[in-house]
Amino acid sequence: ALVVRHRMRSSGRCARAAALLKELEERCATPLGKLRQVADAMMVEMHAGLASEGGSKLKMLISYVDKLPNGDETGLFYALDLGGTNFRVLRVQLGGKEQHVVKKEPKEVSIPPHLMVGGSDELFDFIASALAEFVASEGEDFHIPVGRQRELGFTFSFPVRQTSIASGTLIKWTKGFNIESTVNDTIGTLAGARYYDNDVIVGVILGTGTNAAYVERANAIPKWHGLLPKSGEMVINMEWGNFRSSHLPMTDYDQALDTESLNPGEQIFEKLISGMYLGEILRKVLLRLANEAALFGDSVPPKLETPFILRTPVMSAMHHDNSPDLKVVGTKLKELLGIPNTSLKTRKVVVQACDIIAKRGARLAAAGIVGILKKIGRDSAAKDGGDTPRTVVAIDGGLYEHYNIFSECLRSTVKEMLGEEASASVVIKLANDGSSIGAALLAASHSQYLDVEES
Ligand code: GLC
Repeated sequence: ALVVRHRMRSSGRCARAAALLKELEERCATPLGKLRQVADAMMVEMHAGLASEGGSKLKMLISYVDKLPNGDETGLFYALDLGGTNFRVLRVQLGGKEQHVVKKEPKEVSIPPHLMVGGSDELFDFIASALAEFVASEGEDFHIPVGRQRELGFTFSFPVRQTSIASGTLIKWTKGFNIESTVNDTIGTLAGARYYDNDVIVGVILGTGTNAAYVERANAIPKWHGLLPKSGEMVINMEWGNFRSSHLPMTDYDQALDTESLNPGEQIFEKLISGMYLGEILRKVLLRLANEAALFGDSVPPKLETPFILRTPVMSAMHHDNSPDLKVVGTKLKELLGIPNTSLKTRKVVVQACDIIAKRGARLAAAGIVGILKKIGRDSAAKDGGDTPRTVVAIDGGLYEHYNIFSECLRSTVKEMLGEEASASVVIKLANDGSSIGAALLAASHSQYLDVEES
């Protein structure tokens, strides 16, 4: 009798787990029709954000970057890249079209945790002295023309409302930073990739956070009253992480994550897509499965109750587990969450949950990209047999670089949305570490000495 009762109990649990998973799958579903609505909503918000300041959840920040590097730049330039818990300084010697980057020297500095939540003066003092030290260590193998100051590009992966190419104010700290500066990391990515490939017009970050920048026609920015730049173009930092729409597939897990976050009501798109949150959504799903379907046995593993204990790289490792007994999943559950001896069935449920959450994120990011392509008229093949221009989207960030199922899903979804013909001229490529070097390249393409030389 005991055995029978046990069997019934466990089949009841399985059914409950299956029902919860099915519900998750339905709520997270992103069929093509929904993705098209998301892309259209993105395009509508882009128009609104360009029309007036505060006109949309999308800030559509004017970057004052009106010329991207083209490969001809020469000289010694510096970059400073502040994003997560580290900052990087970099010097590069640019050698023009033939040689491109002749020499580069990066250095990584970690930020003491107390400076990440303190006053901005302390943080920037720390950065300035680290930078000064780095510049002082410049070797003779770098060439700096006499009478020329060193020029530096600063990439900053937070939203900044710029007032010129070299000034701006921080709008808010995102991604868990809390402190009281200039080129956004998406723009760094765009510039870094454009240096080697003239057809790059969109830069996307899919990492801890997510965002996109693209090249807009200067006369398509009604809110901008400044002089039209010579190039006729302006790079826009969309801050798409803050996009939201009734078409986004939101679940109770997402609502809870948002409410408990440091910035409730904000960065909704980012919370569905980026590396900071995917693992946390998974944790919430597993916790519910543990509570309501006894997924991990009669008691709920206490560690599973700790917010952010399950990071996206762990989720990715479990999701990519190809072994027949899902050994990696078993090990991670044991090591990280203290859950011993999970059955294959349980492990499969975990992988399915990873799949639903990661693919929803990847498909939504794809819809965002298609929204941009629509806005700039690059979403369809040329009519009447004309040539369709090549369009390159450069993507950087750990999520895109390392979570292969995510990046493959993103690429195939863009294709699915655009169709065979149009997607033949759209290239999505990894722009690895474009962001820091991009800042140095922008310092070069906006060099004050360039204007002197030109005139
Ligand atoms: C966050 C920031 C944004 C940045 C993105 C990627 O969304 O608000 O400025 O570009 O993360 O790092």
